[in-house]
Amino acid sequence: MLKEQIEKIEKEALGRIQAVKTVEEILQLEIEYLGRKSDFVGILRQLKDVSAEEKREVGKLANAVKIQLQEKFEQAKQKMAVSFDAQAEKIDVTIPAREIPLGHLHPLTQIQNDLEDIFISMGFEIADGPEVEDEFHNFDALNMPKNHPARDMQDTFWLKSQTNADKKRTCTDETQTGADNVDEQILMRTHTSNVQIRYMETHQPPFRIIAPGRIFRNESTDSTHEHTFHQFEALVVGDDISVGNFKFVAQEFFSKFFEKDVAVRLRPSFFPFTEPSFEFDISCLVCDGKGCSACRGAGWLEIGGAGMVNQNVFVAAGYPRNKYQGFAWGFGLERLAMMKYKIDDIRHFHGGDLRFLKQF
Ligand code: DAH
Repeated sequence: MLKEQIEKIEKEALGRIQAVKTVEEILQLEIEYLGRKSDFVGILRQLKDVSAEEKREVGKLANAVKIQLQEKFEQAKQKMAVSFDAQAEKIDVTIPAREIPLGHLHPLTQIQNDLEDIFISMGFEIADGPEVEDEFHNFDALNMPKNHPARDMQDTFWLKSQTNADKKRTCTDETQTGADNVDEQILMRTHTSNVQIRYMETHQPPFRIIAPGRIFRNESTDSTHEHTFHQFEALVVGDDISVGNFKFVAQEFFSKFFEKDVAVRLRPSFFPFTEPSFEFDISCLVCDGKGCSACRGAGWLEIGGAGMVNQNVFVAAGYPRNKYQGFAWGFGLERLAMMKYKIDDIRHFHGGDLRFLKQF
């Protein structure tokens, strides 16, 4: 009886193992035929009730069937696993790797890093100053007292301070130009020249610094103007610094930056914080000074303002009058980037257009 039952189970199990298609199915089947609740194990439990002779015979058979089934299940599992993996994990090693898109530094940051590297190689230090500035450091100390006409050149975003806002509730705008109802002590810096004062207040000459940074002007935008842009200030102070030093440093820097020999030209100009003051140009990068459409035939490209530090500025920063000499300059970082990469509109830099940014 028991013998026939076992043989029936064996036959049935072998048939079903043959037909199985997935690993999940085979595992299921194994539990069904050999698990604790299977018919097979149920039969083995009945062995205790049969005669010693039958027990021996059936026991032997049951054991053989069990071993055979276990082997078949193992084989089937292995076969399934191999074919299963081969399907799912088929790898074509000849397919080119999928590109992982990586971000990169903004072109202006790259330019700033390049500039800093060049100046550090020339022994300069990098200085920094606040973007929210007081009137003293942005204007007064730079020899631009209130009502000085030079202030009109730089349209200023004035800020409302908390204490004054409480007193003067009539103003609802965050920023206004020179209006009576804002606190004229605090503003968004209009140039990086504030760092000159901040640095000199805490350091003694001789020193060489550059100060790249973000600045703000309350003006309408076009292809060459932005309300928020970047400048690059330089300040070198010592006992006997001359215009010659300025010219050399400028020439060295621009030649390194543009990777070609560049000449520097000075034209007389006026800034309250320098005396004498210059506008400085570099020889045209396209025609090397011969005159072309890029420089509109001039042979020169305008870069920025410079000059010998006005003694009034030294005094405002706490130095004695006529003890030191120094040169300073300031120019726009965007303009430099536009020249280097032939960019025709300053608004591209912060326009957020990835087609622009991805080119760098
Ligand atoms: N601060 C000036 C501006 O924003 C630029 C400038 C001119 C800076 C002459 C200087 C300088 O340090 O010497 O227009």
